[in-house]
Amino acid sequence: MTSELTLGIETSCDETAASVVTSENVVLSSVVSSQVDLHARYGGVVPEVASRAHVGLVNPVIAQALVEAGVEPKDIDLVAATKGPGLIGSLLVGVSAAKALSLVWGIPYIGVNHLEAHLYSCFLEEPDLELPLVVLLVSGGHTILVSMEDHLQYSILGQTLDDAVGEAYDKVARYLGLGYPGGPAIDQLAVHGKNTIEFPRPIINDGFDFSFSGLKTAVINYVRQNPETPTEDVAASFQEAVVEVLTTKARKALVNTGAKGLCIGGGVAANSRLREAVFDICLEDGLHSFVPSRAYCTDNAAMVASTGWRRFLEDGPDSLDSGADPNLKLHG
Ligand code: KG4
Ligand code: ZN
Repeated sequence: MTSELTLGIETSCDETAASVVTSENVVLSSVVSSQVDLHARYGGVVPEVASRAHVGLVNPVIAQALVEAGVEPKDIDLVAATKGPGLIGSLLVGVSAAKALSLVWGIPYIGVNHLEAHLYSCFLEEPDLELPLVVLLVSGGHTILVSMEDHLQYSILGQTLDDAVGEAYDKVARYLGLGYPGGPAIDQLAVHGKNTIEFPRPIINDGFDFSFSGLKTAVINYVRQNPETPTEDVAASFQEAVVEVLTTKARKALVNTGAKGLCIGGGVAANSRLREAVFDICLEDGLHSFVPSRAYCTDNAAMVASTGWRRFLEDGPDSLDSGADPNLKLHG
């Protein structure tokens, strides 16, 4: 059987990415050009700056993905692009590039849900993971606990009622003067700190939804009242509260659903403490844990290409009239 190739394009936020993935889920190339330095001076992603940068970067990034994969345009069978959720101006750059290639190369186009792509990032390195699984999707815009019963069939067990966990990391980091993006900065600092402050664990024993806004405010208030506390200890204590809430709910979801294992995905899945805790709870409970490489946790186009191919086999191509949706939801 010959392998089919999908070109994936990701431009939903501040990474311009392109990747070539085979129908057997082998990643031939995954190129990510981060705009972090462009946005750092503003303390967060500026939508207009992001879309302009995507316009300049998208063609060279696609060209590089083809070169690194050692393939030519004629070898590509499907082009997939993130159609939402995300920043509308940024999404449109990737979607328009993909549609143009679909027309010029005479191949089908498919729009991919970014959240579904994060769910599927675990399968890039372990294509044969056994279902059912619980997937904890933790990113800058979302915190969702998902029960994946079968391929492309899942139900949402819970999600955040206010701030996404990555957003809480970024806001706490900004208050602590750690710059943007805050998640990696807190992660690195926490290694040198001690878990000495008992921050709240919002709604930890109450269903599968999450709430991080109160925790973020508690951290900010604590620092305001105790300015002498070492920032390392604040970072370590905040991180411990976050990880305890995430893993307690994930563990309960594993019991309730009878899942065979736990996967994590999204930018916050790159967090060292969370990765360690997920491994530990699964070991204790005799379940399989799967934690993707950091490069597949944060935004990338390999997850878009691989999910695009899966969806294409199930639903067929999308029309070139279909657009982008900044508020796209996750549907099982
Ligand atoms: O999935 P992602 O790359 O983009 C979105 O779809 O949102 O996630 C970005 C988020 C940011 O909030 C960033 O601070 C957070 O992931 N993040 C981390 C770490 N690396 C990235 N949070 C905690 N620890 C990390 N090591
Ligand atoms: Zn993402």
